[in-house]
Amino acid sequence: MAIYQEERLRELSRKFQIYGQILHAEPCKIGHINETYTVTYNQGGVLVRYIHQRINVNVFKNPDAVMRNVMRVTTHIRHKLEEQEVKDLTRRVLTVVPTRDGSLYYRNAKDECWRTFVFVERAQTHEAVQTTQQAFQAGKAFGNFQYLLSDLAGDRLVETIPDFHHTRKRFETLKKAVQEDRCNRARIARAEIDFALAHEPIVDVLLKAHAAGRIPERITHNDTKFNNVMLDVETGEEMCVVDLDTVMPGLVLYDFGDMVRTTTSPTMEDELDLEKVQMGMPMFKALARGYMETASRFLIPAERSFLAFSGKLITFTIGIRFLTDFLVGDTYFRVHRPNHNLDRCRTQFKLVESIERQEDKMQKFVDGLA
Ligand SMILES: Nc1ncnc2c1ncn2[C@@H]1O[C@H](COP(=O)(O)OP(=O)(O)O)[C@@H](O)[C@H]1O
Ligand SMILES: [Mg+2]
Repeated sequence: MAIYQEERLRELSRKFQIYGQILHAEPCKIGHINETYTVTYNQGGVLVRYIHQRINVNVFKNPDAVMRNVMRVTTHIRHKLEEQEVKDLTRRVLTVVPTRDGSLYYRNAKDECWRTFVFVERAQTHEAVQTTQQAFQAGKAFGNFQYLLSDLAGDRLVETIPDFHHTRKRFETLKKAVQEDRCNRARIARAEIDFALAHEPIVDVLLKAHAAGRIPERITHNDTKFNNVMLDVETGEEMCVVDLDTVMPGLVLYDFGDMVRTTTSPTMEDELDLEKVQMGMPMFKALARGYMETASRFLIPAERSFLAFSGKLITFTIGIRFLTDFLVGDTYFRVHRPNHNLDRCRTQFKLVESIERQEDKMQKFVDGLA
């Protein structure tokens, strides 16, 4: 670790309510948004680890609101788990460690915002789902998270990124990018633009169902990638979900849809060999079974009826975001090769087609679950 970082972490170590002395720190490789360190302390002669994490204030412009959301959500979950007499509480939900003066995060002289969590020991995250058992655990973890928050009373949580899943707005932004064609790239992406425009009818389906009062707003995670689920290293069982910055009001279908997008195809988001991009039915079944194991406790029939559709819609929406970014010159998603965002878009659209072919079967399977 660079000397500078070590000094920075040493300073941090004295700002939080940690009753120990910092020994060493390692950067945590996984994670693309925040800067995360695993830090070991000597506390009463025992080694104890914490997470120090720098909040990405370019993405989350209001760290106060983010941390208030995180605190409310984790406190609520803790109380519910306590009522259920769940053991191992600090591995079952993230625990925020406040600063010595009682704030939820620390802002240093450079305006960096840092927060601290209890380290969840003997658990790990994985980049990609390898087995159906893991898909089951991912579904179960996020379903349980939504379940535990389904009765959170009080003010609406703050929308940390407004309109995050507003499919209509995303679609209109794409149309504008196509019309302006600032980088003269539309000609390379003709097929993808046509695909996107032809799918306009799906754009408003969930928004309309919500506006008509058929599906409720709930509290959702909004970043339901597999690498945000901590699994017990021995049993492979889900312990808790992390990465709570985007927890906010939303539709549960957005969470489930993004799980389908990120767990059911054995490929990376930017796979070039499109033949390999496919919605795998065994993975979907395991994911849906895991999700329903916990979420069936609160989901209403209208929500269930859109579960397969949500996979298609969210995959499509991410696809049009990649396409838009390609057309405007790669300003949002970082690219590592020419046409990278177009490749990512193609992968998403291929997956959309694969889901479309299997959508009826997928929904029938979900309908058959208790
Ligand atoms: N409390 C924790 N205990 C142990 N590991 C953690 C904890 N919080 C985060 N991590 C690890 O750090 C990684 C990155 O953290 P995350 O909050 O997901 O940030 P990012 O937004 O950058 O993805 C996680 O995938 C997980 O492996
Ligand atoms: Mg993460």
